[in-house]
Amino acid sequence: MPRERVGQSSGITRLDVRIPSANSTANDFDLGDNDNRMSVDRRPEICSLGVCSRCRGAAGIHRCPLSVFLEYYCAYFVNTHARARRNMTKHYLIVGGTSGVGAAVLKRLVRQKHAVHQLSRNPEYVSETSLVSSERWDLLEDAFPTQGLPEKLSGLIYCPGSIRLKPINRLREKEFREDFEINLIGAVKAVQGCLSRLQRADQASIILFSTVAVQTGMAYHASIASAKGAVEGLTRSLAAELAPRIRVNAVAPSIVDTPLAERLLNSEEKQKLAADRHPLKRIGSAEDVAASVDWLLHDPWITGQVIAVDGGISSIRLF
Ligand SMILES: NC(=O)c1ccc[n+]([C@@H]2O[C@H](COP(=O)([O-])OP(=O)(O)OC[C@H]3O[C@@H](n4cnc5c(N)ncnc54)[C@H](OP(=O)(O)O)[C@@H]3O)[C@@H](O)[C@H]2O)c1
Repeated sequence: MPRERVGQSSGITRLDVRIPSANSTANDFDLGDNDNRMSVDRRPEICSLGVCSRCRGAAGIHRCPLSVFLEYYCAYFVNTHARARRNMTKHYLIVGGTSGVGAAVLKRLVRQKHAVHQLSRNPEYVSETSLVSSERWDLLEDAFPTQGLPEKLSGLIYCPGSIRLKPINRLREKEFREDFEINLIGAVKAVQGCLSRLQRADQASIILFSTVAVQTGMAYHASIASAKGAVEGLTRSLAAELAPRIRVNAVAPSIVDTPLAERLLNSEEKQKLAADRHPLKRIGSAEDVAASVDWLLHDPWITGQVIAVDGGISSIRLF
């Protein structure tokens, strides 16, 4: 019977083991020249498992086919599982993973054993591990940094944004430009910077962020609503251009308890007022939004959408 080695690197030997039938005789298990012999490269002299009745009675000195089979089967199973786990690990880029929603998305992806590269102005806020790397990028100043990025990316999540609420007569042109720069131009730089890597993945996903104040007119939101409106346009346009390999979607939150919204939520009274405005009677958490990002990243049949994650405020009125 020919011997064959597979999984050479892992040292696993494939076995051709015949499990004895009920009426087999003792000779059937000997390594003689009969039909029931095992073709194994390494046979234990001692049955360590003691799972068959012969082993138990024979002081362990016995070549037990059942125990050999189980031993090798377990090793094979463990190695196959580890290999499958390695193949399942995907690489994601999060711009702005040091706080708020980006940090919550980073945690979720790492919990799922995916690898994440993070870019922001303060990369030291993220602890590097075997799955997480972090680099400095100030999107307002620097060219997009490609060093440290893997060859293939399964997803880009672009989180930087702003909340600038002012009446139109107090908004300066410079402020409009700044809001466009961080919300729109930064996203464009990130997409362009890693597009070839996203295209190398079988399926990839881009997530951008809008705001509830684009589809629902809200006072004092002229600058941020204009910039995020442009992000929504970018989302749909890229979704068309990059289909079918890359899906592009945006999440449009209402107010979320993150450092970005701190000034709007820095007293109990403000928090209560904000919560009461929402049909679901609470403000959002970074985790609420990260759950939607996670879903959009992995759902294979959604693209070109702007998903409201807003406690119902954009579509429900309670009387
Ligand atoms: N929070 C809300 O109430 C709310 C509501 C509607 C929409 N949104 C949108 O949701 C998204 C996530 O918001 P968030 O509340 O999670 O924001 P956040 O807590 O302020 O986090 C923003 C992230 O972007 C990074 N960042 C900021 N400026 C950057 C720059 N110039 N260069 C590189 N990285 C920069 C920050 O890291 P560093 O400080 O380390 O640079 C941080 O990791 C934003 O697009 C926001 O507009 C939020």
